[in-house]
Amino acid sequence: MNLTIDVIGIGAGSPAHLTLEAVAALGEVDAVFAMDKGAVKADLLAARRAILDAHAPGARLVTVPDPPRDRDPRDYRATVEDWHDRRARVLAEAIRAALPDGGRGAFLVWGDPSLYDSTLRILERIRALGVDFGTRVIPGITAVQALTAAHGVTLNRVGRPVLTTTGRRLGERPAGMDAVVMLDGGAAWLEHADPAEEILWGAYLGTGLEILRRGRVGEVGEEIAAEKARLRAGHGWIMDIYLLRGAG
Ligand SMILES: C[S@@+](CC[C@H](N)C(=O)[O-])C[C@H]1O[C@@H](n2cnc3c(N)ncnc32)[C@H](O)[C@@H]1O
Repeated sequence: MNLTIDVIGIGAGSPAHLTLEAVAALGEVDAVFAMDKGAVKADLLAARRAILDAHAPGARLVTVPDPPRDRDPRDYRATVEDWHDRRARVLAEAIRAALPDGGRGAFLVWGDPSLYDSTLRILERIRALGVDFGTRVIPGITAVQALTAAHGVTLNRVGRPVLTTTGRRLGERPAGMDAVVMLDGGAAWLEHADPAEEILWGAYLGTGLEILRRGRVGEVGEEIAAEKARLRAGHGWIMDIYLLRGAG
């Protein structure tokens, strides 16, 4: 069939994050595949639709219902594996049905495809199901970059490492190491950060809802947690990220 699938990083929230390379790639695609995550994330699907209207008016948007997933499983890895498998199956069908011989499809990936995103892994699974295609990856601006730019800081302090981790695993951080934390469903800083550490927090970065907070965890931590809960309840969803910097 000679198919190509582009995996296009679209940046972390602002349409202005799109690179010229991403815009050029969008102009070449026949169909864009997206998982429909239901009404809660409808805002995110709308953001994708706006990008397509602006840069790929000729492309079909093929939305595929996202298979349900247990959000609090006993065996996290096995549950995610199974979920990716089910996603791969529905997407394989959609790709077969939507792309003509020699066609080019695309997945738009929030931020950059290399960072906490499973699109490239799922494409491997789709290939294993017998759908043959080449892949091209277009890098995008990550939420990490959106956060550091919004706060006007460098990610790493001079000569120091930075751990990239999730809220779930923040407690495993080596003592004293700076960390950038993503995918925090709650407020892990309250439990796992030192009160003297600085938190540089950002939510809905790059969007009209963008909000930033910065201060010592002991001084602003509770307030940010309450604000996060309020925002999530108000908008129905939240995406936030933060940098923790030790006192030393
Ligand atoms: C599944 S990861 C995807 C990361 C993405 N591939 C990237 O390069 O930024 C989703 C997490 O990224 C962070 N994130 C993505 N976009 C964001 C935004 N606009 N504002 C704040 N955090 C964001 C949040 O921590 C969210 O839980």
